[in-house]
Amino acid sequence: MPAADQLIVFDTTLRDGEQSPGASMTGDEKLRIAKALEKMRVDVIEAGFPIASTGDFEAVRSIAQSITDSTVCGLARALERDIDRAGEALKHANSPRIHTFIATSPIHMRHKLRMSPDQVVEQAVWAIKRARDHTDNVEFSAEDAGRSELDFLCRIFEEAIKAGATTLNVPDTVGYNMPHQFGETIRLLRERIPNSDKAVFSVHCHNDLGLATANSLSAVLNGARQVECTINGLGERAGNAALEEIVMTVRTRRDLFDCDTRLDTTQIVQCSRLVSNITGFPVQPNKSIVGANAFAHESGIHQDGVLKSRETYEIMRAEDVGWTENRMVLGKHSGRNAFRARLGELGIALRSEEELNDAFRRFKDLADKKHEIFDDDLQAIITETGLNSEHEHVKLVSLRVCSETGETPRADVVLSVDGEEEPGTAMGGGPVDAAFKAIESIIPTGTRLQLYSVSSITSGTDAQGEVTVRLEKGGRIVNGQGADTDIVIASAKAYIHAINKILLPGDKPHPQGADV
Ligand code: KIV
Ligand code: ZN
Repeated sequence: MPAADQLIVFDTTLRDGEQSPGASMTGDEKLRIAKALEKMRVDVIEAGFPIASTGDFEAVRSIAQSITDSTVCGLARALERDIDRAGEALKHANSPRIHTFIATSPIHMRHKLRMSPDQVVEQAVWAIKRARDHTDNVEFSAEDAGRSELDFLCRIFEEAIKAGATTLNVPDTVGYNMPHQFGETIRLLRERIPNSDKAVFSVHCHNDLGLATANSLSAVLNGARQVECTINGLGERAGNAALEEIVMTVRTRRDLFDCDTRLDTTQIVQCSRLVSNITGFPVQPNKSIVGANAFAHESGIHQDGVLKSRETYEIMRAEDVGWTENRMVLGKHSGRNAFRARLGELGIALRSEEELNDAFRRFKDLADKKHEIFDDDLQAIITETGLNSEHEHVKLVSLRVCSETGETPRADVVLSVDGEEEPGTAMGGGPVDAAFKAIESIIPTGTRLQLYSVSSITSGTDAQGEVTVRLEKGGRIVNGQGADTDIVIASAKAYIHAINKILLPGDKPHPQGADV
């Protein structure tokens, strides 16, 4: 059992976060995020749902092999095939955990599982014992605990501990609970379950009513010692509790909480940017802790106060969560070794010399156009290098756009489709519209553009524009990202990135679907 004053941080960005429509990540992207989480000293990284697809299995396996300082966890329904697949994926982990779950609310048991409460208890016990054959670190979740009956939760958790579960997770799956009520549930569970001292109580709150962080913290005040959360609050529907909010609340209000995490909070902003860059989910400027305005003091009165004494308006220090001046790190004359060394400091290791060469060439191209290269520019370069992988059927060869007052913009594009160069031309309402239509004239995708957004990676008019494009086809949603000092080119790159994702084989099953 961990010390009573240790709050375990369980990050599920790579599993529940990836369940956000459009947030799917490649195996390499997941590994990059996992390394950033390890560097931040997250205790448990939920790396994925191994039974879902070969890609998910491989991602969990490669994270399990590379991560040594955090526990690596795989999700499994309370089914033999799920548990054995998770066990297989985690076989080489330094510290593996299997997270198995089954729904416990009347509504889920009756309509989704079509199982009686007795059958659910029996299945849970069987699954935990099976998971214990693979590892002694087993977490059991009572899905939809937030709408389950307290007596039933007490019964199933008591049996779960007897069967060998070491962590008991209480998810508010649909984000229905209120903070005082959820805290009370945790208190009562700990009081009433006779063997409750043999397991760590965990919470997993969704943000449908905007209460995920508040509910998690109320649970911590009532004895929960693991919080499940995601970077930037990414996650199914309205998302999960945001890691940065929970960790910084507990750290800032040590007067109220009798526990703390072991997180290196100075890594928070870096992690937030990485997840946003990889998923294409921008962080709103007024988002707590990691939003661009979170520490910006606009009004004269506030600025005056902060200059006289920081504490007048600031409850945390920007540098404690990793806000630093955007330092110029590399420039036009930086060589390969400096480039490789800086990537190393950022915790980025490319898979091969070929990838390093590709990334370095992109860096040199950028340095020709842009004076100073910052860490965020490097992250964007690496994201692009990663995209240049086996999944890239369509590549941008060249783009020429003519746009002038009073004339209809026209785009001429050349794409390489599976190695064959193909030209396309189109007119459009604006240069971006013309570019997208020219791409579609070569490779008609039948997709619908759901979102187009552009932001600048760093400041200055020579900054790279970062574009996110969201495409939908037959209910499937993908996001694409592209970065360039020319935002029309960035847009074309983002569009092509999304097309490459939509061309990949179909959807994987949802872990919380009805297939039990
Ligand atoms: O929200 C939920 O209930 C889950 C479980 C699988 C823990 O994500
Ligand atoms: Zn969830």
